[in-house]
Amino acid sequence: MDACTDVTICPMTEADLDEILLIESASFPHPWNRTHFHDELASAHSFPLSAFDGRGRLVGYICPMLILDEGHILDVAVHPEYRGHGLGKLLVEHVLAACRQRGAEFVSLEVRPSNSEAIGLYHRLGFVETGRRPRYYHDGEDALLMEYIFREEEEDTDAV
Ligand SMILES: CC(C)(COP(=O)(O)OP(=O)(O)OC[C@H]1O[C@@H](n2cnc3c(N)ncnc32)[C@H](O)[C@@H]1OP(=O)(O)O)[C@@H](O)C(=O)NCCC(=O)NCCS
Repeated sequence: MDACTDVTICPMTEADLDEILLIESASFPHPWNRTHFHDELASAHSFPLSAFDGRGRLVGYICPMLILDEGHILDVAVHPEYRGHGLGKLLVEHVLAACRQRGAEFVSLEVRPSNSEAIGLYHRLGFVETGRRPRYYHDGEDALLMEYIFREEEEDTDAV
């Protein structure tokens, strides 16, 4: 895959979970299990999304939730063979736009301080570091808390 021009992002379904669980296991030391994804599919606050390439292969996914004006990204991963082509950026940008459309004032997420690839992506998209949650992960690693705050002035400028 050379670019993300041929990618479709759509609501995640039960039928996607076998492939998603494979990507999840290849992506995290403590991967979510099927129940985690079922819970996201069933939650009224969540709108999990899957990304497919032009041949219908599931290449990534993202699990956002929105409560009142607070968006949160719980999980995001791209198939290892498809990384570095802008798909992660596309998924996060899609969620930022969807959260904004649904009334979010900001979108937050937790990330391991050792995950420099993800942190670099979030910085480039405009997320800022807002805190640290000590020993947040199962193995005792802290979590970095990052937030994207929507600015009305920028949106006004973009609209001109
Ligand atoms: C974090 C993750 C989702 C990023 O996905 P991705 O598709 O690789 O992200 P992007 O391609 O948008 O950006 C990553 C890099 O590719 C580069 N890139 C973007 N478009 C590109 C293109 N057309 N060709 C080559 N490289 C490109 C980006 O500039 C970025 O480079 P850099 O970080 O080396 O400076 C992915 O690495 C992943 O699944 N990791 C495991 C799970 C994980 O850690 N999730 C985050 C939990 S908080």
